[in-house]
Amino acid sequence: MRAVVVEAFGPVETAQVVELPVPEPGPGQVLIEAKAFGVNYPDMMVIEGTYQFKPPLPFIPGKELAGIISKVGPGVDRWKPGDRVIGQVEYGAWAEYVAIDENTCLAISDKMSFEQATSMGMVYQTAWFALFDRGQFGPGDVVMVTGASGGVGLAAVQIVQAMGGTVLAGVGSPEKMDAVRAAGADHIIDLSGDDLRESVRAEVFAATDGHGADICLDMVGGDVFEACMRGLAWRGRMVVVGFTSGTIPTIKAGHLLVKNIAVAGIQWSDYRDKTPEIMADAQARMMELFDEGKLGVELMKSYPMDRFAAALTAIRERRVVGKVALIP
Ligand SMILES: NC(=O)c1ccc[n+]([C@@H]2O[C@H](COP(=O)([O-])OP(=O)(O)OC[C@H]3O[C@@H](n4cnc5c(N)ncnc54)[C@H](OP(=O)(O)O)[C@@H]3O)[C@@H](O)[C@H]2O)c1
Repeated sequence: MRAVVVEAFGPVETAQVVELPVPEPGPGQVLIEAKAFGVNYPDMMVIEGTYQFKPPLPFIPGKELAGIISKVGPGVDRWKPGDRVIGQVEYGAWAEYVAIDENTCLAISDKMSFEQATSMGMVYQTAWFALFDRGQFGPGDVVMVTGASGGVGLAAVQIVQAMGGTVLAGVGSPEKMDAVRAAGADHIIDLSGDDLRESVRAEVFAATDGHGADICLDMVGGDVFEACMRGLAWRGRMVVVGFTSGTIPTIKAGHLLVKNIAVAGIQWSDYRDKTPEIMADAQARMMELFDEGKLGVELMKSYPMDRFAAALTAIRERRVVGKVALIP
């Protein structure tokens, strides 16, 4: 089988597609024949060696795939050959066959293609848990989403809309605003300006009749995070999701006190590893919303597996709106 392999941490172009033996599923594992791979922002960081967890070298990168179960290991009774699943791992997904813990597989709706399924995994789950678990979303809440044109961002825009909230979508690249509006954003907040501290607060309060945002899901960090803190409503909840700006912000505790603000972080992989049953329930609910036409998946582009570096470079250069996938 073919797989992407990283021999040494470095630029994404230094990883290679190589031939490896097909693995055997062990006890409690299933073997998935891959039909599509998810490409996520953190994959780039893992290959470069800048991610919080560095796999032992050499390794196969990739955190998610969608495919068909071709074999089950001893003791597996939840799945059978032929089942269509999403598989999620810390690393190791970008191979034509992947042996994986049965608990980290999630069922795919019959109406959904494999490419769509790779787009409905990590980014939707991150948005879901950031919103409901960490952000304590309630009906009618106003939710500010930064990096709204990205994978997690567009998923968050759609989920808030499907659940009856109001979405303020923060967009840093003006050419992406139409796509974010089409995904259901109620208001666009321009994150391309020079004085975000003043402009974001003014735009958020103008869009909400002076109320502010009940929740902010922040993918960007840096100046954007600081500006969004100022746009929060009384008892607002700030959820730290990522730092695409490259700057991890510092919080002044006094700001939390004066407006009764709560700040929470999210680590998607913990839901996968510590509470797989909660993950499966959330995914099943999102599949229902997909079947009802309430969550749509706009895949921007699929690349052949050999072109993984081009897919990651498109993400790095902010040319992606939504998601890209790899096809084995
Ligand atoms: N905490 C978790 O468990 C978890 C899970 C998944 C992802 N993440 C993190 O969440 C973030 C978003 O992931 P994603 O998959 O949605 O990424 P993505 O698809 O690449 O989207 C990120 C968005 O951020 C904006 N952006 C990119 N570079 C930027 C920069 N230098 N300065 C300001 N804005 C920039 C872009 O929008 P504009 O061009 O419109 O600004 C882009 O659409 C990443 O940091 C990722 O590592 C965290």
